[in-house]
Amino acid sequence: MYQLHYVIFMEKELDLQPIIDYVSKDWQLGPIHGIEHWKRVERNGLLLATDDVNIKVVRLFAYLHDHKRLSDGWDLEHGRRASENLDNIRQILLSELTDDEFVMLKRACMEHTIIHRTGIPTIDACFDADRMDLPRVGYMPDPVRMASELGVAFAKHGVVKEDCTISFEALEKAKNELLSTKMRDNGIK
Ligand SMILES: [Fe+2]
Ligand SMILES: [Fe+2]
Repeated sequence: MYQLHYVIFMEKELDLQPIIDYVSKDWQLGPIHGIEHWKRVERNGLLLATDDVNIKVVRLFAYLHDHKRLSDGWDLEHGRRASENLDNIRQILLSELTDDEFVMLKRACMEHTIIHRTGIPTIDACFDADRMDLPRVGYMPDPVRMASELGVAFAKHGVVKEDCTISFEALEKAKNELLSTKMRDNGIK
């Protein structure tokens, strides 16, 4: 039987509280790019996680990708600043990451403002987790602008509602449609 495997468990061993304390400590801006947004990005990342996604990297991305924003407006360089700052906390807060995980986290933060899609499942899941929170600023996720196939399906089916909550009915439809497409593509009836 052909199956899509979705990650349905939380990675309990990852303690995010020190990271949350770190990014919240000097946060001057409001909720648009603050903790409420970061928590929803983490939630979205968990919904987007498949077997080929490193969920630890996605969860860390959720809390670190916007923390070097200087304003809630146009600030295209905030991804680069966030990425570069990771070097400063590598040995303190991110010491449990492997070098590969650290490189992926750096790249996801660096490119989330400037790249549509990388083809690397973990990084694309980071991008889409962030894009799925666009309703908070009045835009619904656009399938054309999503990076992963699951992100495209979620956007197409309206998995995130206007109030940023999740439609679990739409979630099931999106997953089922993607599963059917994959089975058809693989010649499985
Ligand atoms: Fe950002
Ligand atoms: Fe963001």
